Amino acid sequence: MTNFFRLNERELRKKTVTLPEMKNLIKAVIFDLDGVIVDTAHYHYLAWKKLAAELGIDLSPQDNERLKGVSRMQSLEIILDLGGVSLPEKQKETIASKKNRWFLEYVDQMTPADVFPGVKELITRLKKNGIKIGLASSSKNAARVLELLQINDLFDAVVDGTMIVNSKPDPEIFILAAHKLQLQPNECVVFEDAEAGVEAALAAGMKCVGVGDPGQLRIANHVITKTGQFEINELQRL
Ligand code: G6P
Ligand code: MG
Repeated sequence: MTNFFRLNERELRKKTVTLPEMKNLIKAVIFDLDGVIVDTAHYHYLAWKKLAAELGIDLSPQDNERLKGVSRMQSLEIILDLGGVSLPEKQKETIASKKNRWFLEYVDQMTPADVFPGVKELITRLKKNGIKIGLASSSKNAARVLELLQINDLFDAVVDGTMIVNSKPDPEIFILAAHKLQLQPNECVVFEDAEAGVEAALAAGMKCVGVGDPGQLRIANHVITKTGQFEINELQRL
């Protein structure tokens, strides 16, 4: 018989999920888009880096981590802050639109083949196991990206940057996604590549699988390098 007093917290959590009342608690997976389903996080970086360079600011990959998951205007504020640059509101709007045009030049070249390997298969497997699928992206371009990738039909509910007031790390987007899926937050697991996104998921009362560098995403419940690597038997054990 297991001696529960000798188990650490993670082991204990694994043990307790086998109790009947905890079984199959997770009923949905909510995916972030940029950097989780497709490599658009890289396109955001390239476009922001070009804009930052025009302003005389060097945007390092490490600084870029802070832009992931947050809104377009908040990303710009972070860059201006890094460079100690202050600009009038009107000019901020103008250069944010310019960044968006550059971003869309990359996006518009995408095809369904650009979905990360194994993602569609993972979603299909989750669905076969009765798990609902949501999408929660702070991007106002999410609808366009989903359409180009032809993956709209995979999702039972979609929330994007046009539907929220506060972007990640605020939990609003995930709470709204759970509501649209007609589930409680603790019945949902989030897949996120952004630190702000992991924070938002946890603040919403959800479990979170980080996609990327375990050092960067250490507050997530579990971290994988690529979305397609996820083993679905992990879902009820997070
Ligand atoms: C996502 C990305 C962020 C981006 C934000 C807004 O959350 O991770 O890097 O800034 O969406 O994107 P948008 O397409 O509306 O500029
Ligand atoms: Mg992301």
